[in-house]
Formats: sequence, structure tokens, C-alpha cells
Amino acid sequence: MRPAAPEDAAQLARLHAISFDRPWGAMDIHQLLTTGAAGLIADEAGFILWRAAGGEAEILTLAVDPARRRTGLGHSLTLAALAAATDSGAKVMFLEVAADNPAAIALYEKAGFSRAGLRKAYYVRTKGFADALVLRRALNRDEALGL
Ligand SMILES: CC(C)(COP(=O)(O)OP(=O)(O)OC[C@H]1O[C@@H](n2cnc3c(N)ncnc32)[C@H](O)[C@@H]1OP(=O)(O)O)[C@@H](O)C(=O)NCCC(=O)NCCS
Repeated sequence: MRPAAPEDAAQLARLHAISFDRPWGAMDIHQLLTTGAAGLIADEAGFILWRAAGGEAEILTLAVDPARRRTGLGHSLTLAALAAATDSGAKVMFLEVAADNPAAIALYEKAGFSRAGLRKAYYVRTKGFADALVLRRALNRDEALGL
């Protein structure tokens, strides 16, 4: 696993595009990585972006190449982001996940997140909308580092 740099934006955009219906462009990802967001890349096959400020952190996106899913990359990336956010001083981490994405919800629950809210009709779908679950996890240094 290695930190994501702005120069990785094109590769990350490719991974994002094969993972989401509404892909983020390389320019958007480049901008995130030059304006305070942090990222990690695992095996060149998955990545996570998050931002931490004012004691709170937020996972912005997480994607794993379909050919490499169910091998633990997503879980490892999530735990590493939790540890890094904790090290940066954040006390809590939030994220939004589509209510119709059971794989991601299960991944985040496995990493200790629990439901904190609901945003109705948050994501645009080809037909209609999907709700977003807001998930929250308290950050505890010893726990997040797996000590
Ligand atoms: C969600 C995603 C990141 C999971 O990545 P992954 O590397 O396959 O996940 P892991 O192998 O680390 O799995 C970790 C846990 O997540 C859950 N999980 C992952 N994929 C799952 C699936 N298809 N069905 C049910 N649970 C799943 C399981 O609890 C799993 O633990 P287990 O292996 O002990 O059962 C990947 O499917 C993906 O990129 N999806 C498209 C983009 C997306 O939805 N991103 C998250 C929303 S921001």
C-alpha cells in the first residue's frame, strides 16, 4: 500500500470509472489531492480517498478493481484510512454510502461503522434515486491501529 499522489489521478479515475455509475474525472481527483484530501493505493488495484479537518474525517470514495474484489483490499484500505485519520488527530469518521450498495455497507460495518443518518434520494440513478446512509465511527487510537 502506498500514499496516493496528484500524479496518480488518471489511474484513480480509471478505477473509479469501472466502479461507479457516475465517475469522477481525473481533474476532480487531482484537485482533491492538492487541496487537503489524502489517499492510499493498494496493489494498484484499489484506492481510498478521505479528508480530515477540525477533528472530523470523511471517507470521500473507495473503489477496488472488479477483478480484485473479495480479496481483502477494500477492508485493508479502510483500516489504513482509519489509522491515518486517527494519527492526524481526527476523533470521528463519517461517510455516505448508497442504501442499495449492500457490499459497501457490509464492508463498512465490518470496519466498525454504524448508521448515523439517512439522506433521502441522495444519489441519482438511471431510473430514479437512491437514499444515502450516513455512517459514523469513533476513532480510538489504539483500536484503529490494531494494537
Ligand atoms: C465495496 C468494495 C470497495 C469492496 O471491496 P473489496 O476489496 O471487494 O472488499 P473486501 O474483500 O475487503 O471485503 C471486506 C468485507 O466487505 C464485505 N463485502 C465486500 N464485498 C461484498 C459483497 N459483494 N457482498 C457482500 N459483502 C461484501 C464483506 O463483509 C467483506 O468481509 P468478508 O470478506 O469477511 O466477508 C468494492 O466492491 C467496490 O469497489 N465496489 C464499487 C465501489 C463502491 O461501492 N465503493 C464503496 C462506496 S463509497
